[in-house]
Amino acid sequence: MPKVKFLPSGTEVEVPEGKILLDAALDNNVKIDHNCGGNCACSTCHVIVEQGYESLNEMSEDEEDMLDELENFSETSRLACQCRVTSDLVVRIPEKDPLFDDDV
Ligand code: FES
Repeated sequence: MPKVKFLPSGTEVEVPEGKILLDAALDNNVKIDHNCGGNCACSTCHVIVEQGYESLNEMSEDEEDMLDELENFSETSRLACQCRVTSDLVVRIPEKDPLFDDDV
């Protein structure tokens, strides 16, 4: 089974191939926000894939549009609810994007 390491905590878990990354995190008590419930409509589940980015399923236009709005977007950004795990990954859960800062 593929292994996924979540940063910054360093939690490493084995994930059945094909599982949605967000579900893999939540099943293992790794906190990733998911305000829209995994429907590609909020981008609070943004993660930065540090290793294994190429192994992920292709990004949809909707996902691309959601990511474009983020201030802390990186070249290997993905929405955790939109990608399937098919091989080992290292994934960084970024600080909350300023877009979602409730105080602003
Ligand atoms: S949970 Fe809302 S876009 Fe992923």
